Amino acid sequence: MPKKKIRNRCIGILTAGGDCPGLNAAIRAVTKAAIASYGMKVIGVYDGFRGLVENRTTALDNPAVSGILTVGGTILGTSRDKPHKMQMGDRVMDMTSTAVENAAKLGIDSLVCLGGGGTQKNALALQEAGLNVLTLPKTIDNDVAETDISFGFDTALTIATEAIDRLHTTATSHNRLIVCEVMGHNAGWLALGAGIAGGADAILIPEIPYDLSMVAEHLFERRRHGKRFSIIVVAEGARSKAEVEAAAAAREKNGKDGKKKRKKDPQEEPRPGDPERGVVPMGPAEEPPVFQLVQEPMASRLARQLQQLTGTEARVTSLGHVQRGGGPTAADRLLCTRLGTRAAQLLSEGVASAMVAVRGDRCEPVPLEDVAGFNKVVPSDHPWLAAARQVETCLGE
Ligand code: F6P
Repeated sequence: MPKKKIRNRCIGILTAGGDCPGLNAAIRAVTKAAIASYGMKVIGVYDGFRGLVENRTTALDNPAVSGILTVGGTILGTSRDKPHKMQMGDRVMDMTSTAVENAAKLGIDSLVCLGGGGTQKNALALQEAGLNVLTLPKTIDNDVAETDISFGFDTALTIATEAIDRLHTTATSHNRLIVCEVMGHNAGWLALGAGIAGGADAILIPEIPYDLSMVAEHLFERRRHGKRFSIIVVAEGARSKAEVEAAAAAREKNGKDGKKKRKKDPQEEPRPGDPERGVVPMGPAEEPPVFQLVQEPMASRLARQLQQLTGTEARVTSLGHVQRGGGPTAADRLLCTRLGTRAAQLLSEGVASAMVAVRGDRCEPVPLEDVAGFNKVVPSDHPWLAAARQVETCLGE
């Protein structure tokens, strides 16, 4: 935490990482409360951390945020650029000090960063370089550590559930298997939540490496009970037991990430997590796979294998960015308004180097060091897993 008492007369706000429904609702809440309740000036920064480095900003006031509560995306734009490793023309450069200096020149006392896991790490790096930051947890993946929930998740959950409902009617009519791939990065929250809510017959998540023969056996069992269709919800990060074992063997052979050595990024150093609570160190940022276009997409491969094993015709639906599009649900609008207004209040009290986390009914600041570098995955004793098993959903175990 910073030693000097911060007097926030002017704040900056940016949205970074993948967009999600609710970002505008949060921008509106921070802006309106900061101006009306605490007399602050608010500056919007375009396109995430890149906008700060390139000095692209806009004044935010009540007219600027009027009418955006219900609108998806972000009026400020977003990017996945990191200040410490930014593509500048044909070079990758550390632009951290430029970002900090630009904020100072703009008169920004604290910067509010709306983002997921990567953004929390980048925000902490800026804090350590001398810029006060306060963050809000945003992501459809719901994998930000130390918060009960992130905004954007409820909307994506609603969209994915509705899609699974729709897949049910067509799967039933044709007696087909439908494999539905949902996002979620390395966490299974979205697949598990939407799978349970949509009554999926099997749900495969990264936290539980799956055994394909168990999934096939479950589908046979359904058929023995007269059910000739099945919906299999698979998280984009799900892996079979065989793949997990192969990756572990490769790690053993080639080093930590199982790939050929690459230059280490100091921000990517893993710290110990708390797997009991579902808090695990974030993995290294993924290198873009070479030959990605010739690989068979995971959900397609799964559908092909299940079709072969069960003799039932299979189809694939990948929900993709539909899950991040459109306006936020009522629950997300409410959450963003609670988080955003609480952020403004905390800024008025001079709180920095913290993320505003959802803890039960309350929104509380938690130290950024406890968030940055960690992922919240589904813990093995989570009640959603127990509930799924009790309604006879196959988890591939
Ligand atoms: O983190 C949100 C998310 O939608 C993940 O679920 C997904 O893996 C990723 O972003 C997709 O990123 P992009 O929009 O850059 O393709």
